[in-house]
Amino acid sequence: MPVERTLVILKPDAVARRLVGEIISRFEKAGLRIVGLKMVKSSAEQIERFYPSSEEWLKSVGTKLLKAYQELGISPRERLGTDDPVEVGKMVKKKLVEYMTSGPIVAMVLEGNRAVEVVRKLVGPTSPHSAPPGTIRGDYSIDSPDLAAEEGRVVYNLVHASDSASEAEREIRFWFKPEELV
Ligand code: PPS
Repeated sequence: MPVERTLVILKPDAVARRLVGEIISRFEKAGLRIVGLKMVKSSAEQIERFYPSSEEWLKSVGTKLLKAYQELGISPRERLGTDDPVEVGKMVKKKLVEYMTSGPIVAMVLEGNRAVEVVRKLVGPTSPHSAPPGTIRGDYSIDSPDLAAEEGRVVYNLVHASDSASEAEREIRFWFKPEELV
């Protein structure tokens, strides 16, 4: 059945920048229905459990940052002291925990036709500087990995969205009790 549910988190920068209404409105206007919504102040332990810790995931996140550094002409060895994808992935995860616990977040469950894919498309690629206009990350931010590296943080990219139907199921269960969904 193509009707799916997906998990979206409006990250601390979206909340701090008063973009919550604006971003939710984009999802609603696209035809998605809100079936769960809450504001949360997360702990580091909770965020550590939310993001995977497998070597495969760390490697993929690390590889993505190494690729971004290469495109921006940054030496990972100089900036991070290593160019090992798993080690870089561990650094990203640590900074991601700092980012996600730096302020309140808004977690929501959206439902609609092919919701997982549609929401990822509306959100856009990881780094706002390379996200196309029309996407949430592209329209509301110009942050980039080089600027983030100078400031010793990860890229602030406003939104999290589940990247597969099976992840969506796990993530929805992580943030919501069944009775919190309508
Ligand atoms: S994405 O945007 O979901 O496609 O990203 P993904 O490659 O799946 O990475 C998994 C999560 O790690 C975040 N991430 C980063 N954030 C900031 N800066 C850098 N360099 C970075 N690399 C990966 C990415 O945004 C994903 O987090 P969520 O919360 O899913 O967006």
